[in-house]
Amino acid sequence: MDNRFVYLDNNATTQIAPEVWQIMSESQQLFGNASSMHGFGRAAAMGISKARGQVASLIGANEKDIYFTSGATESNNIVFNIARNIIDKKDGKGRIVTTTIEHPASIETVKFLRKKGYTIDLVNVDQSGLIDLEDLKNKLDNDVVLVSVMSANNETGTIQPIKEVAELAHSVGALFHSDATQSIGKVDISMQEIGIDYLSLSAHKFYGPKGIGVLAARNKAPMHNLMHGGHQENGYRPGTYNNFAIIGLGKASDIAKRDLSYEREKLWKMRETLRKGILDRIDEVVINGNQDHCLPGTLNVSFPGAEGESILLYLDMEGIAVSTGSACATGSLEPSYVLLAGGLDVELAHGSIRFSLGRYNTMEEIEYVLDKLPPIIKRIREMSTR
Ligand SMILES: Cc1ncc(COP(=O)(O)O)c(C=O)c1O
Repeated sequence: MDNRFVYLDNNATTQIAPEVWQIMSESQQLFGNASSMHGFGRAAAMGISKARGQVASLIGANEKDIYFTSGATESNNIVFNIARNIIDKKDGKGRIVTTTIEHPASIETVKFLRKKGYTIDLVNVDQSGLIDLEDLKNKLDNDVVLVSVMSANNETGTIQPIKEVAELAHSVGALFHSDATQSIGKVDISMQEIGIDYLSLSAHKFYGPKGIGVLAARNKAPMHNLMHGGHQENGYRPGTYNNFAIIGLGKASDIAKRDLSYEREKLWKMRETLRKGILDRIDEVVINGNQDHCLPGTLNVSFPGAEGESILLYLDMEGIAVSTGSACATGSLEPSYVLLAGGLDVELAHGSIRFSLGRYNTMEEIEYVLDKLPPIIKRIREMSTR
């Protein structure tokens, strides 16, 4: 058991799957510029085209809907930029509606737009982190151009009723965007079935490489570019293709589609063993997020009287990697805005730990965590002044 490393931070990023590494290294000869007309270029273009089909198939979209980007941050930014452009064309008359618990890739973008004078309405969530549909309805009118609601939260794992949200958005003629970065490969997402106009994803959240993602825009949803340059992606996302990363994303999509139901079950069993084990072995524990609608591998727990950062560091000394709040908030001692938005008190938000399980975790690792965690919490609580 000693010198063990247990990686339970899969919502921050995942390791690249061996099959993905393999296809990327086998694709070394596909180095050509996909825009070149010669054989090298055509071979690269074929690899990219295959990957486009693979990712489209995973998310229930068409190949022509897929725009490769550097990741979900960029994809989200493009979508809000599209909404901004639509509002500009209406002489500033239009609103964007999103929620209080979106990832910083969305929240910081709408804060920026708000400073520029655009009207942004934030919908509340209930205590479990589920969107308040009544509040959403009250904020919808036919001046809303875009509704953006993430499909699952990165910190709590709470899954939103995005089909209902899509219907509500469409009922007032608004476009619907979902940041599906945390759901891809963990729960079924079909853009067509759900009625998603724009979807963002990042390959590194589901065992693909970093720095590659997708903005999918369905049903001829309007596009508008952030960057200007070549003709790639119809000119909406110019720049020479990152062939290997795109091919890796394609393979990761194939595997995610193939193994989704098996992995979902496996992750849920390990998560539930961890949740029950924590509740059995540690007093005064609060489980955060909605337990009926949640990602199979995400468990967010508050340990009153124990600071999240201390827990993280003690677990790290045992070789166990977890996170407090969102990975993006690491380095700041601010409590998680996602947990506060759900009404959790500041002390509980400070004492929260996110365990995010992934494909390569084992039940034995969960037992190891359940051995190490209780004495750590006991020690920190004894040292704390409460
Ligand atoms: C829900 C969500 N959206 C967007 C992002 C940003 O993804 P990336 O850093 O790959 O651009 C993340 C990453 O943590 C996320 O969890």
